[in-house]
Amino acid sequence: MRILISGTPGTGKSTAACLLAKSLGAECLSITNLVKEKNLALGYNRKLRTWDVDENRLKREIERCIRKNHKIFVEGHLSHIVSHRLSDLCIVLRTEVSELFKRLKKRKYPLKKIQENIQAEIFNTCYEEAKENKHKVLVIDTTSFSSAEKTLLKDFIYELSLQS
Ligand SMILES: Nc1ncnc2c1ncn2[C@@H]1O[C@H](COP(=O)(O)OP(=O)(O)OP(=O)(O)O)[C@@H](O)[C@H]1O
Ligand SMILES: [Mg+2]
Repeated sequence: MRILISGTPGTGKSTAACLLAKSLGAECLSITNLVKEKNLALGYNRKLRTWDVDENRLKREIERCIRKNHKIFVEGHLSHIVSHRLSDLCIVLRTEVSELFKRLKKRKYPLKKIQENIQAEIFNTCYEEAKENKHKVLVIDTTSFSSAEKTLLKDFIYELSLQS
């Protein structure tokens, strides 16, 4: 069970991955944490208030973790960069733009960063990139999911059962 969870920032990857991994007794690998631990940031982008990441090194580090543990959820908007040979499924989370806007605004992101993320969601960037990388992709829309732990898990399991 090697599952990647991708999607635009704010679609709920960390929330979902933690919950699913916990309920299935799997490891939850956060790309944000991995970037920090392994010093994979190239520099800080002040305008967007994000770290630019060395994607080649990141890919190698994620793949090393997956090889070590086959019961793993990898979550982050770059998770789909790993080889499709090392992943059983790539779940792409989606959220309607108005709801995503609310979630990103809550984080007090600068408007430019919100706009970039909304644009990525409109263009379905993570999905397109995951497909390009030949992943088996499953799309789950979290717009109307509850963020309460129990209900969120139920919503996920229901969606997975519908699509499998
Ligand atoms: N299913 C959901 N329904 C409603 N709100 C949610 C849901 N999942 C997450 N949220 C809320 O949306 C926000 C974003 O969630 P989360 O941090 O999991 O997103 P993310 O995709 O991991 O973002 P990032 O890429 O920036 O790490 C949080 O405030 C969280 O409480
Ligand atoms: Mg996250």
